[in-house]
Amino acid sequence: MSKDWVIGILGGSGLYDIDGLDNREWIEIDTPWGKPSDQILFAELDGIKLRFLPRHGRAHALSPSDVNYRANIDALKRAGCTDILSLSAVGSLQEQYPPGDFVVVDQFIDRTFKREKSFFGAGCVAHVSLADPVCERLAELAANAAEQAGATVHRGGTYLAIEGPQFSTRAESQLYRQWGCDIIGMTNMPEAKLAREAELPYATIGMVTDYDCWHDVHGNVDVAAVIEVLLRNADKARETVRILVNSLSGTERENGPQGIETNLDVALITSPE
Ligand code: ADE
Repeated sequence: MSKDWVIGILGGSGLYDIDGLDNREWIEIDTPWGKPSDQILFAELDGIKLRFLPRHGRAHALSPSDVNYRANIDALKRAGCTDILSLSAVGSLQEQYPPGDFVVVDQFIDRTFKREKSFFGAGCVAHVSLADPVCERLAELAANAAEQAGATVHRGGTYLAIEGPQFSTRAESQLYRQWGCDIIGMTNMPEAKLAREAELPYATIGMVTDYDCWHDVHGNVDVAAVIEVLLRNADKARETVRILVNSLSGTERENGPQGIETNLDVALITSPE
């Protein structure tokens, strides 16, 4: 089935708005799961519809544990999104991913524990597959756009999600490296899980701001250092979005080969009677 692209963008720390868009309007959307982090920016660019939601709110008042992830994903779905791209500040767990680089991950490990992680539960049980949690098509489009925006882009990698709000201990950081993780953040889980349950293709660009605390040469991570790199990266992130949208302009959207848009067809286990 073909339909128009409606690109949802979840902006992380340092990305609270996207300028240079047409027909901009911030709109309040309520959901059965409660309120999303903020109003959603409805806008257009090159004839493509765009919906932007700052994950922590425009004033960055929500900590990673306080974000209502279910409301955010549901609100983006209600806003008509066909695909969701997350732009997130992350720490690096690998020498070859220095601050300033972008990593378009293909796997996640979820170590969060204080969040609602499913739209399903008592009365209606579903088990979606997360073997491949990222939409490969959207990830490739995003990586191409980020490269054109001038970023150094790494394709593939594993994102380790921690609960926060504290950064990791050195022992934890070293453990995650032993697990083969590449970047670390506090928000992309349960977002990716919920997007899959909502049948929304999801991809992430992790924008590296620091080397976490495992690195011998670089100091321990602190907020000032994170913000400094973030501000340098924010323009590149906005340019990435503009190039991504432009690359879709004039194309019709078909469902992707991974079957994400219909994955609930084989996930519901509760009898319909
Ligand atoms: N976000 C940015 N840097 C981070 C780090 N080192 N750990 C967790 N989340 C982060």
